[in-house]
Amino acid sequence: MARVLLTRSLPFDAITTLEADHDVVTHPGPLPPDRATLTHLIADADGVLCLLTDRIDATLLDAAPRLRVVSNLAVGTDNVDLVACAARGIPVGATPDVLTEATADLTFALILAAARRLADGERAVRAGDWRTWEPAGWLGADVHGATLAIVGAGRIGEAVARRAAGFAMPVLRVGRDDDLHAALGQADIVSLHAPLTNATRHLIDARALAACKPGAILVNTARGGLVDQVALAAALHAGRLAAAALDVTDPEPLPVTDPLLDAPNLLVVPHIGSATRGTRERMVSIAVANLVAGLTGAPLPHPAPGT
Ligand code: GLV
Repeated sequence: MARVLLTRSLPFDAITTLEADHDVVTHPGPLPPDRATLTHLIADADGVLCLLTDRIDATLLDAAPRLRVVSNLAVGTDNVDLVACAARGIPVGATPDVLTEATADLTFALILAAARRLADGERAVRAGDWRTWEPAGWLGADVHGATLAIVGAGRIGEAVARRAAGFAMPVLRVGRDDDLHAALGQADIVSLHAPLTNATRHLIDARALAACKPGAILVNTARGGLVDQVALAAALHAGRLAAAALDVTDPEPLPVTDPLLDAPNLLVVPHIGSATRGTRERMVSIAVANLVAGLTGAPLPHPAPGT
């Protein structure tokens, strides 16, 4: 029976099926295994179902001589060294498509929340600061008709663009070869959907933020590393950006003492883009299908892009 490591407990039906036919070892508890624990647990695993919080690199792979497949429970695979896996003939799986709509929904929730200052308003109600209907209180920005730049126009970016059509928003799609700074100069709202690679790390840096239209709103539901958070904090403090809403940060979790959290008009939520029951069920099913295929030597139904 193949031995499989789950780096986190996953309370979903597909795991019960997996457990019926495999020797499954699950790292217990709600937090990721630390490096020493992961290294120990993976040592005799034939396959691993890992999360985006697990770093799967060459050193770890060298400690896992039996490993035949890495199945990542995420569409992004920046936590996995794809080159090191390929060098060892280990296929890597991802969970694309099934989270596209849920992530686009959350992106739109963040666009609306940032533009209409939902977090400020909610805090004011709870603090007893809602004294009356205020003609000039909690003024935000119009979303309807605003120009939206979608940076990284893949599947999730396109799903956001479809939602934007309902809000009559002109959409600027910014792909790898497009002029990012020119688009930033025209957009009222900028939404990030690019993968995190060496080329995209800190894509939104001080220069990019300076190129943004004054009063623009930045939304990131992709990867925290796309944004230079020191530069973002400065842009928010300076009022250069009206607001930012982040589902992802660098690092994750963002320490409560991180200076970014002192910036005004900033909304941060804990990486919940795909966090609907149905979406997570489907992600786990795909991750299990990738894992089982890899264990039997079959092509993975959903290989990581570029592998
Ligand atoms: C989540 O961020 C994912 O990559 O699936």
